[in-house]
Amino acid sequence: MPRENSTIETTVQNEEGGIESTLRPDNFSTFTGQDSLKASLGVMVGSAKKRSAQLDHILFSGPPGLGKTTLGYIIAKEMDVQIHVTSGPALERKGDLAGILTALEPHDVLFIDEIHRLNTVIEENLYPAMEDHYFDIVIGEGANARSMKLTLPPFTLVGATTRAGLMSAPLRDRFGLVARLDYYEYQHLAEIITRSAAILEIEIDKSGAEEIARRSRGTPRIANRLLRRVRDYAVVDDIKVISKELADYALGLLDVDSRGFDYLDRLYLEALVQKFDGGPTGIDTLASAVGEEKDTLESVVEPYLLQQGFIQRTPRGRIATAVAFEHLDVPFNKTAKKKQERLF
Ligand SMILES: Nc1ncnc2c1ncn2[C@@H]1O[C@H](COP(=O)(O)OP(=O)(O)OP(=O)(O)O)[C@@H](O)[C@H]1O
Ligand SMILES: [Mg+2]
Repeated sequence: MPRENSTIETTVQNEEGGIESTLRPDNFSTFTGQDSLKASLGVMVGSAKKRSAQLDHILFSGPPGLGKTTLGYIIAKEMDVQIHVTSGPALERKGDLAGILTALEPHDVLFIDEIHRLNTVIEENLYPAMEDHYFDIVIGEGANARSMKLTLPPFTLVGATTRAGLMSAPLRDRFGLVARLDYYEYQHLAEIITRSAAILEIEIDKSGAEEIARRSRGTPRIANRLLRRVRDYAVVDDIKVISKELADYALGLLDVDSRGFDYLDRLYLEALVQKFDGGPTGIDTLASAVGEEKDTLESVVEPYLLQQGFIQRTPRGRIATAVAFEHLDVPFNKTAKKKQERLF
């Protein structure tokens, strides 16, 4: 593969393509928030560079849009190496893995997105590559088949997953750093929005940035998306500066509510509160009630509702809390309360 490309990709980029990459920070100083994680990564990078060694393998987990891929790119850039990008489902056969591993140069970053979706054959072949830098290949067939060890250069595997819980322990344990990204504080999101507005060449005042931040589900990708939509309203109406009022008006029209919940969040909450009286309800039942994949509910919808205290997980299923009832304007009645007390 050509060395002059700084990125070698075997998968298609995300839906927002070009725009998302212009807004994507490319160094630690423009990557806002996640301060303790950034500090640990900074030390790891500094140490590896001083020792002229490759960086230890790193796993990023957390809900979509929080910056896992972005950090992968930043790490490669800070280490001054190439990043090779692929994903769990794209590595179907052993040959796919061999192809990508043999293209690595010393200290390069191999980024595997959705790493929890690697199949077991690939996973088992990845272990020796990660630990001892070799890859077993079989040459010939039948009685003449023999196995050969292919030596690989030292490299850094950066894995990203929205479902760390689905990863096997042996794979997880082979990472030198397992980092969980959390939802962002709204002040950090407001900073991200202000930076993105400058890149998009639109003015926004402090209260406008804060209003969009509050409704962004703690997620930079959503913050950038909402900013672009509010920008559209500003452009169409010839408004020079995005204010709280404009943000409020535009986001109302976009069906993003005051807590930043979108259509699917509300569908989920309405099902749990109204159809199932606040639960406890099993995830499979909820998934069919809202007509959505269980995996999407578990990796996208529930983490934010849990973090915001709108739902709880119990051994008997999900329950909606009093805050959820209040948000939907449904009285948190005695039956619901009693039922919940019995569960704890
Ligand atoms: N800390 C941050 N500071 C500024 N912008 C950020 C930050 N984190 C993420 N972003 C923005 O959000 C976008 C989405 O981030 P990214 O693609 O890294 O998320 P992800 O965690 O890989 O999501 P997914 O699980 O869907 O792959 C980036 O393009 C970038 O513009
Ligand atoms: Mg990603």
